[in-house]
Amino acid sequence: MSGENIAIVHNGIIENHEPLRELLKSRGYVFTSQTDTEVIAHLVDWELAQGGSLLEAFQRTVKQLHGAYGTVVMDRRDPERLIAARSGSPLVIGLGIGENFLASDQLALLNVTRRFLFLEEGDVAEITRRAVNIIDIDGQPVERQVHESSAEHDAADKGQYRHYMQKEIFEQPSALINTLEGRIDADSIVVESIGHGATDILKQVEHIQIVACGTSYNAGMVARYWFEGIAGVSCDVEIASEFRYRNFVTRPNSLLITLSQSGETADTLAALRLAKERGFMAAMTICNVAGSSLVRESDLAFMTRAGTEIGVASTKAFTTQLASLLMLVTAVGKQKGTVDKAKEKSIVKALHRLPVVMDQALAFDREIEALAEDFADKHHALFLGRGEFYPIAMEASLKLKEISYIHAEAYAAGELKHGPLA
Ligand code: BG6
Repeated sequence: MSGENIAIVHNGIIENHEPLRELLKSRGYVFTSQTDTEVIAHLVDWELAQGGSLLEAFQRTVKQLHGAYGTVVMDRRDPERLIAARSGSPLVIGLGIGENFLASDQLALLNVTRRFLFLEEGDVAEITRRAVNIIDIDGQPVERQVHESSAEHDAADKGQYRHYMQKEIFEQPSALINTLEGRIDADSIVVESIGHGATDILKQVEHIQIVACGTSYNAGMVARYWFEGIAGVSCDVEIASEFRYRNFVTRPNSLLITLSQSGETADTLAALRLAKERGFMAAMTICNVAGSSLVRESDLAFMTRAGTEIGVASTKAFTTQLASLLMLVTAVGKQKGTVDKAKEKSIVKALHRLPVVMDQALAFDREIEALAEDFADKHHALFLGRGEFYPIAMEASLKLKEISYIHAEAYAAGELKHGPLA
């Protein structure tokens, strides 16, 4: 809040909050928190006092903010009007009948509407019960396309499971069936299913640059072994928050692949935008959310089709990313002539078996639960792996610390003697 009237909701980070805080203090504002969000509230209040409508005040405010944000403001004196702005963080408007909604994810609104408007970078929107007016980054009124969501409402229901993560672990076999659908036939990869224009891009590609965060990064690390080992194409993988802040060299005929469950991770999105400026031949995203920013802004989108993933710790999104990546690697190898018919057939056969094998693994649930008893009171865990199992060890370690708060590390098996053992 600023004073009695200006209320803010903010998702994201305002990077220049410190100078703005000093400026506002010098104007007499008293801060009651250390949050960057409070800076926005006071700034709106100041701009409103300079004259004009709340919309105009908010437009002047967002021009002064650096960082990633989805933010909404309300003036208590005019509570029927919300002003929203988006830069970097997702913001979606849900369209109802005689009512409209704002959220950072359409999932939060599925019980009230299926019709959505996605704000673009720099958009400011004025929302009342009956109208939505959007103004783009250049201050011009714009129409944004209405999307009908096909996401299942019952995705937000845990069913028989104790928590979403457990539900999503058990959804992996069916999620994988969806991922594979139409992309492999009896013994080959359907290259055309990767998207319009993909065959030419895959033929020309000489280098792959994967950029992602968290679990998606670990999936990318596995794929590096595959791109180089199976398709014979050089591949680098980088954490998006590193890639976007360093001076990198763009190699000729380099394809950027972003990996993301949500399609909205701010660092990954910033990396995509930077890569587009820096001469990559094309940008592809392997993503789970249709209509997300990464999907909208990439040349090619390969959807993982895992279904809604609510658990913050990614599970079925990871395994479907891996299946998608293996299909892509095989398609690249096929286009470049490095994967022969026999190799393609053996990969496709393994992919067909994957949901069944996954079911068999999940049938060990009780045994795994019993084993977990032996580890529950430990304070540290070290996961080891070699080759493509090294990133699997990284993902296992990430999962353990995210879920149990047990300190966990991953090591390349051969590196153990050069650090922990020494
Ligand atoms: C983090 C989550 O915030 O984002 C991780 O905690 C996730 O679980 C990571 O892997 C990347 O998210 P996304 O949606 O880009 O795959």
